[in-house]
Amino acid sequence: MLDLLALQKQFILSHITEGDRVCDFTMGNGYDTVFLSNAVGETGSVTAFDIQPSALESTSANLRQNGCPANWRLICASHHRAKEFVKEPIKAGIFNLGYLPGSGNKALTTERRTTLPAVESAIDMLDIGGVLLVAVYPGHPEGAAEGRELTEYFSSLSRFKYSITQIRIINSPDSPFFTVVERAK
Ligand SMILES: C[S@@+](CC[C@H](N)C(=O)[O-])C[C@H]1O[C@@H](n2cnc3c(N)ncnc32)[C@H](O)[C@@H]1O
Repeated sequence: MLDLLALQKQFILSHITEGDRVCDFTMGNGYDTVFLSNAVGETGSVTAFDIQPSALESTSANLRQNGCPANWRLICASHHRAKEFVKEPIKAGIFNLGYLPGSGNKALTTERRTTLPAVESAIDMLDIGGVLLVAVYPGHPEGAAEGRELTEYFSSLSRFKYSITQIRIINSPDSPFFTVVERAK
């Protein structure tokens, strides 16, 4: 069986190196932030976004417990506002859409009205050779709709500027899937 999380990391790691600027657009409990922080090292920078203050608390604890370099900035704001905080191009970005795992608050899921502008803006922020990874959880109605609209949007982008790959388990349509947007060199 494919390990989707390992595959996601492989895609990201093939595009980034120490010293790069990257973003975690859905911080949650910070597992992706920890991964990115270690991957870009002391000379890199990670900016992470979430709208829930509790996400910033658990991510900060997670980064400290894992001994991550002091290269991170946690921002309590919606990801569609990312350009207000990150003014230079980024080499990689991760969206892990859905609910904050373990919070019990399923009302605070990502939503199309902010996800779509946020993904559009993140693609615009990508540096030449950069990569954006968007993981979707279609097992709940908003997640399924997010997946459909994002796929429609990704399909509309120029194949000369971006290579866009989707990895999904086609005999399990409710399982999580992800899309990788690679900006051409
Ligand atoms: C599936 S979780 C992310 C998991 C996370 N990457 C991790 O490693 O633990 C999705 C997160 O997106 C956050 N979120 C929802 N709407 C958001 C928005 N408009 N901007 C930024 N984050 C948002 C939720 O609060 C939740 O913490």
